[in-house]
Amino acid sequence: MLRGLFLASVIAAAIGGWAVITVEQLPDYVTAGRPVTLSFTVRQHGVTRLSGLKPSIEARSGDLTTTATASPGRETGQYASTLSLPRAGEWTITIHSGFLDRQVTLLPLSVIAPGAATPPSPSEPERGRRLFVAKGCVTCHVHREVAGSGVVAVGPELTNHPLPMDYLKQFLANPAIAPQSGTVRMPDLGLAPQEIAALAAFLSTERQALR
Ligand code: HEC
Repeated sequence: MLRGLFLASVIAAAIGGWAVITVEQLPDYVTAGRPVTLSFTVRQHGVTRLSGLKPSIEARSGDLTTTATASPGRETGQYASTLSLPRAGEWTITIHSGFLDRQVTLLPLSVIAPGAATPPSPSEPERGRRLFVAKGCVTCHVHREVAGSGVVAVGPELTNHPLPMDYLKQFLANPAIAPQSGTVRMPDLGLAPQEIAALAAFLSTERQALR
């Protein structure tokens, strides 16, 4: 059974049945009971924006589960889902793309009680680690610090992949500057400068320094 599932996903990957899910603006934390909107883009092979999907979001914390559907956003392949997480704590959010069984589970999101003090900001490398999952890097690249990374490892492994900081930032802003290494190109996921800074900090930080 497991073997069949594994083979099925290998075949799906081979015939193009995979997609990259990129969350637009990942919050550091949210407040319990207040609606929060998550926007994301689904790109087949990290490139082709897929419209007409019916994505959904599932959030879990302990015994609680909240689900929400997503509706099409402004741009092709973009979707938005508004949900309200009823209780303070750590919530695990899974985005189901609606394209085959392609999904992504974000690193746990902190939910604070209304009126509670603002939690300390995550460190830059830790924010970068969260973005590594939320931006969809996790689909194409293996990284030791990110469980389940490298779903369809079409890009190089990025654990201990040292690159000069300036180059890394330029590359993430415009991946076309690197020569193509395989059949798939590193896509331009439209990262914001702060996201690039955090991702670069994560990729150039040694394991001990994280969190
Ligand atoms: C669709 C698959 C895909 C996704 C998604 C993806 N990459 Fe890549 N990445 C590649 C490929 C393929 C390469 C190799 C260069 C090439 O062929 O374009 C690469 C190369 C890299 C490199 C090495 C560049 C070098 O010159 O050594 C870094 C660093 C990198 N990616 C970081 C990221 C980060 C951070 C994200 C998420 C924001 C990301 N990638 C998302 C496919 C992907």
